[in-house]
Amino acid sequence: MPGMWPTLINDTFLRACLRQPTTHTPIWLMRQAGRYLPEYRATRVKAGNSFMGLATNVQYATEVTLQPLDRYALDAAILFSDILTVPDAMGLGLSFGAGEGPKFAHPVRDEAAVAALAVPDLDRLRYVFDAVTSIRHALKGRVPLIGFSGSPWTLACYMVEGGGSDDYRLVKSMLYGRPDLMHRILDVNAQAVTAYLNAQIEAGAQAVMVFDSWGGVLADGVFQRFSLEYTRRVVAGLKRSHEGQTVPVIVFTKGGGPWLDEIAAIGADVVGLDWTVNLGAARARVGSRVALQGNLDPMVLFAPPGAVAREGIAVLDSFGRPQRPDGTWDGHIFNLGHGISQHTPPEHVTALVEALHRHSRTLR
Ligand code: CP3
Repeated sequence: MPGMWPTLINDTFLRACLRQPTTHTPIWLMRQAGRYLPEYRATRVKAGNSFMGLATNVQYATEVTLQPLDRYALDAAILFSDILTVPDAMGLGLSFGAGEGPKFAHPVRDEAAVAALAVPDLDRLRYVFDAVTSIRHALKGRVPLIGFSGSPWTLACYMVEGGGSDDYRLVKSMLYGRPDLMHRILDVNAQAVTAYLNAQIEAGAQAVMVFDSWGGVLADGVFQRFSLEYTRRVVAGLKRSHEGQTVPVIVFTKGGGPWLDEIAAIGADVVGLDWTVNLGAARARVGSRVALQGNLDPMVLFAPPGAVAREGIAVLDSFGRPQRPDGTWDGHIFNLGHGISQHTPPEHVTALVEALHRHSRTLR
């Protein structure tokens, strides 16, 4: 049972999400727990050298979630799990082959498979909710815990393709050829994702993020009907406050720059941006309605530490001073524009976090 939570000590991340005053710009990094950290690789070996072995074991999932926080002064933790746990619970048979991406044993490719699809029994995802509760306790109030899910569209990409894809040929064939089937998948996914995120909130998640990693591969007009509309339904169905605290919602569409105004209008508190978007221009357009999260190119982390610090500071300066001349505040959460690469030198992240914390205080 969740029970009594430790008092939150560093609430900077939640404050920025809600566009409240902050003493520095909060930082966290997508995929901050992962293979670039030697301590992660060591725990992974203990878990039978398998990603799902890690994710389904509450002790290991808790341990790896906390690893990046012990190394870096990050302002938020993110649940260690994966977006593909939901289709796995639908019975699609997820596996991660050695050195390969994810694979589904039973992809959803025809009318019969689509008809058989249903919102999974949340008991099959109990290990995720148990991990959320365990992590929230283990954090001892150091920083807030973010829960997450894939967007209905991004999950559909994996469910139809059966894994990663270069051209999205199968999922787009269904979208254009049998839009009725695609809408049925998206409808089931939206219901499943809503229930899954609400259960994470009940288990102790203090903010939630929807990863629409593949929204940006869609054509204009198609994105709005097949991705954004279903993410909007998810956001509309979420608990926005729990145990007296507001639970901010972050929506991140990779490649979503062309649709910034529309994404900012679906009811989320925060919009995540990739590195193709100018942060200052985005702020001018939507910054009084939503906070912005992003948007350093993760490949910057391969440059020498001095260059990493300089590029990170340029992102802060692009957003500018979060307090407006009229005294109100806009919100910026520093992040990468996509997940950190597994080849990243860990000490370059140290240089980034230190430079950001130092510089962001000079912007107050
Ligand atoms: O951010 C975090 O630290 C939390 C954990 C997290 C993982 N995956 C762990 C993971 C999160 C938030 C995700 C989200 C996720 N998973 C997304 C959306 C974000 C994005 O990157 O666009 C997507 C598309 C996936 C699907 C997925 N999971 C892929 C394509 C892969 C294989 C590619 C890769 O990077 O290895 C995974 C596996 C995965 N998920 C790993 C981790 C740490 C690596 C697994 C391992 O240890 O072998």
